[in-house]
Amino acid sequence: MMGVITSRRRKRLTGPEDENAKPLPEGPPGYPLLGHLHLFRGRAVPNVFQMINDWAKDYGKIYPLKFGPKTMYILNGYDCIDEVFNHPDVDGRSQSHTFAAALGEGKGPASASGKSWSCQRHYAIGFFKKASEYLDQAVADETKIIVQKLTDQSQDSIDIQRDLYRPALYNILTKITFGKRLDYSSEDFKVLVEAMDTVFTQHGPATLYYSLNLPFGSPAEIKRKLSGFKVKCQTEIDNVLGKSSPTYEDRNRLPYLQATVAECARLANVTPLGVPRVATKDVSFQGYRFPTGTTFMSNLHSIMMDPEIFPEPEKLKPERFLDAEGNYHRPKEYTPLGMGMRSCIGEQLAWRELFVITCSVLQKFTLKTPDGHETPSVTTGTTGVARSPLPFRVRVTER
Ligand code: HEM
Repeated sequence: MMGVITSRRRKRLTGPEDENAKPLPEGPPGYPLLGHLHLFRGRAVPNVFQMINDWAKDYGKIYPLKFGPKTMYILNGYDCIDEVFNHPDVDGRSQSHTFAAALGEGKGPASASGKSWSCQRHYAIGFFKKASEYLDQAVADETKIIVQKLTDQSQDSIDIQRDLYRPALYNILTKITFGKRLDYSSEDFKVLVEAMDTVFTQHGPATLYYSLNLPFGSPAEIKRKLSGFKVKCQTEIDNVLGKSSPTYEDRNRLPYLQATVAECARLANVTPLGVPRVATKDVSFQGYRFPTGTTFMSNLHSIMMDPEIFPEPEKLKPERFLDAEGNYHRPKEYTPLGMGMRSCIGEQLAWRELFVITCSVLQKFTLKTPDGHETPSVTTGTTGVARSPLPFRVRVTER
């Protein structure tokens, strides 16, 4: 019976309509050999993701970009990404040299395909479901260290991203994977940071780098507004928690903070093009027939900046995540960690880290951009699969 249903379904997807399939879509012109690679090497071209969104107006919801010899089809808009990334035959991963060097080609739940992937994913999801207390503890331990280091530091300003968040997030993963955290000054930890940087910085780290500095350029007017958001979060934290340490369970009692974290994650959008997926069979979308092996990228930025879903998308407006009663509300299109059968396995951990660390730091400290420095901007940064802001400094004082 299942066989009949599957073959009928397949017929509908790749059947007669494909005889009339349009020629594969064209995209914007790139350089010979390089294609569009120059847009993403190291320091990204400012506003590159806006440019990618704008190209959809000229070339359609699915269009190709070339990364050296490799062609990838960019999917734009929620409906288009939802359709393609939920298709059962778009469940493969393209292989990257960096992941392959670090993990072994096709190894690990992010890179594997087929049965090996489905077993690993099933196991990992099961672990994250059962291990919520363990995750809470790992996040709490590392948060304590961040707070302690901020309390002890006596510098005029610090690079909070490089010196505190990055080691903390790597250490949480270490604790979860190997059962113990490492001392930041140990040789083992230095080796770990180097290895993780190879995987993440060349592809971009997926972290909470932006959230405490609530992004966007530095004019005085914007700085004043940002400070208003932080004060509102701090007032809520003071009223609800007082001095007691936050846990992830507290998020529903702190809707404004939860909405602010979500809004920062929308604007910071650390994986603006998602993680590439590969068609494991021929597939048809939007009148095109794509052969087995076609690579697709989800332009999540096109969703996060869609004015139909998020009016005035370039503005920081935590209220868009609050309902009429002031409770946290998440629209179904809000998918900064991807969607479909290969969506992010670490989602529960990522939101825990974002919420608990942001809450703990705002509870105890005032953060300011030092005079003469820029706040991190969401239109510049370093970019791979994910992006991070250019280095920035923060002045931290105890409240
Ligand atoms: C803010 C933090 C994070 C962001 C923005 C993020 C984003 C994403 C995205 C966009 C995908 C691809 C989804 C797709 O193919 O449709 C993904 C996949 C994945 N993420 Fe994350 N992620 C984050 C944190 C984490 C953490 C903390 C972990 C591990 C503990 C993790 C593990 C994975 C894995 C294993 C996959 C591959 C899943 C699969 O192929 O089945 N992520 N992530």
